[in-house]
Parts: sequence; C-alpha cells; structure tokens
Amino acid sequence: MATERIITPDAVSPVDEQANFSLRPRALTEFVGQAELVERIRIAVEAVKQRDEPMDHVLLDGPPGLGKTTMAHLIAEEMGVRVHLTSGPALTRGSDLVGALTKLNAGDVLFIDEIHRLPPAVEEFIYPAMEDFRIDVSVDSGMHARTLSIQLKPFTLIGATTRSGLVSAPMRGRFGITHHLRYYDAEELFEILRRSSRRLELESAPESALRIIAGRSRGTPRIANRLLRRVRDYAQVRADGDFVDDVAHRALALEGVDEHGLDELDRAYLRTISETYRGGPVGLEAIAATMGEDAGTLGDVVEPYLLQRGFLARTRRGRELTPLAAERFGFHVNPGSEALFESE
Ligand SMILES: Nc1ncnc2c1ncn2[C@@H]1O[C@H](COP(=O)(O)OP(=O)(O)OP(=O)(O)O)[C@@H](O)[C@H]1O
Ligand SMILES: [Mg+2]
Repeated sequence: MATERIITPDAVSPVDEQANFSLRPRALTEFVGQAELVERIRIAVEAVKQRDEPMDHVLLDGPPGLGKTTMAHLIAEEMGVRVHLTSGPALTRGSDLVGALTKLNAGDVLFIDEIHRLPPAVEEFIYPAMEDFRIDVSVDSGMHARTLSIQLKPFTLIGATTRSGLVSAPMRGRFGITHHLRYYDAEELFEILRRSSRRLELESAPESALRIIAGRSRGTPRIANRLLRRVRDYAQVRADGDFVDDVAHRALALEGVDEHGLDELDRAYLRTISETYRGGPVGLEAIAATMGEDAGTLGDVVEPYLLQRGFLARTRRGRELTPLAAERFGFHVNPGSEALFESE
C-alpha cells in the first residue's frame, strides 16, 4: 500500500503541477538558496556568452522538490534559449533520443528528468551527442549494415536525478557541471513562502504563520508551497480568511504534519524500526517489507530527510535510530547502537 502524503515532494496532480508552475521563480534572481549552485551557473553562463558557445552540460541531483526542473528552466532563460523537456523512462529507444535531439535549435537545452532511468541502449547514443554533437545510427542490417553520422546543432543537456548513485560513471564524466542540491533551511523556506504568498495575494498572512509553515516543510520548496495552499484553503473555509498562527497550526495538524515536518509515512518508518527491530540496525529491504512500502521510495523520499534531521543513522550494520529519535519520540534505541558513537 502506498500512502498518499501531503508532504510528498512529488507533484501529485495536474492541478498541483499548475500551481507549482505559477509559483516557479522566473529569473535566477528569484531563485532562493543553493547559493553555490547559483554562483556556478552565473559564472558558466557569463563565460560561454562571452565566448559565444553553448552552455556546458549540467547534472543536478538531490531529493525531489528541491528545484531541479526550476533550475533547468532558469538556465535556459539566462542563456536566452528554449528548453525541451523529456525523461529517462520516456526515451525507450535510440530513435526517441534522435527525435528529441534533432528538434533542438542551436544552443537549446534538452532537460532529461530521472536520467538514471535512461535505458543502456539509449545511453550509448547520448555519449557522442554530448561530446561531439553527433549521433551514430546504424541503417540496414547484415551485409549492408552501415553507420550514419548525424550532425546535431550544439545543445546543452541538463540531467536531473534523485539517485545519483545510479548514474553510470561514463555518463557522469560527460557533464561539465554536476551539483548536489541540498535541503533548504527554515530562513530560505520562509523567503520562498513570502514570495509565494504575494503571488497568491495573501499579503495579510503574518510572518509568524509563514514561519510555522516553513518549519514544517521538510526542507523542500515544493512542500512549502503545497502546505501554504492547504493553510489558505483552511483559513478561507474554516476561519473567515483569517490566516493566523493558530489557523496554520490547526490546518497543518489536520494534514498530519507534526512540528518536525514529519508526516505519517515518516513516523511509520521510524516506528517500524523502533517497534519491530528494537531500534535497529536493520536493512532497508526488511523495513520496506514490514511496512509494505517500496524500498526505492523509502530510500529516496523518506530517509534523506530523516538522516539530515539526525533521527536516523546509516551505519555499517544498517539503519539505526539515534538518541535524538529516542528523546523526541520515545523510540527504542539499541543500547549497543553504533549511532551512539558515530554519526554520518
Ligand atoms: N530555489 C527556489 N526558490 C523558489 N521556489 C522554488 C525553489 N526551488 C523550487 N521552488 C518551488 O518548488 C517547486 C518545485 O520545484 P521543482 O519542480 O523545480 O523541483 P524538482 O527538484 O524538479 O523536483 P522533482 O525532482 O520532483 O522534479 C517549484 O514549482 C517552485 O515553485
Ligand atoms: Mg522536476
């Protein structure tokens, strides 16, 4: 059973995607946080513009909802080119990629989401395309087989992945810029919410209420914006449009988000380790099987934030709850836990 979660960083519905789109920063100057990434992009864009070259290929990795797609749009915007969107799973055959690449104008950005899911056969094609703006396709077969080289216009590939470990070394090596996006701190999320509340014409929302939402957004802009809309709905329907702290608290409680930003799935994950495995250590597969959840989802979406908050430790022996988890939630911690001595 996959749990529906308010805090899911994935876009859930077309309505949601639309809302995300309208709140998306439209220029690099509106992109909050990730200062090193923004600086690296600024420098690269300015340098290649001076040399009149296409921008280097960029690989962005990090948990969902942190702004990878947004950044791809902004790079294209800065370069004054168009962005074409596709994804690893959508490119099933070499010819899909050929189609996508030959449509590009000089300098355009091809954005490939979930690039770690690119089939190996397509990956082969992409190497010469990235290096020499060329694709080699074989035509005919048997005795008459020959390779046809198609020259492409120079382009920029921007790849995004939530699983950087699954991107092959030869693939990774062909990107000029690779960057890991990190979770946003409360101050950055507050800034994002302030901008969003202006766009949503919620000027009356007090700073304090926005800070409450920021603190419960799991370090993720997409979640922050979604919670903001839920609180707005709640205020409108249950509180005469009064967007105040108490209303924010009530709305978020109704959504099942606690004061650490954890939702039911996060808590179920921690509870499973505590109750079934006495605090760990335990392997991810075992936790997933016990919960009836997908190990990949837990690994990509649930664990990174719990690790970052220090509720979970990954030791040589497996996943273990930390003393902090014991203190905050009263969970079991294995008395011999390595997490007591080392934390990653
Ligand atoms: N740095 C930022 N500043 C302001 N808003 C942001 C920022 N990053 C993301 N957002 C907001 O969060 C939403 C989600 O971002 P985006 O779709 O780019 O995430 P993503 O990393 O591509 O996620 P996924 O991996 O799920 O595709 C955007 O629509 C935008 O409103
Ligand atoms: Mg995206």
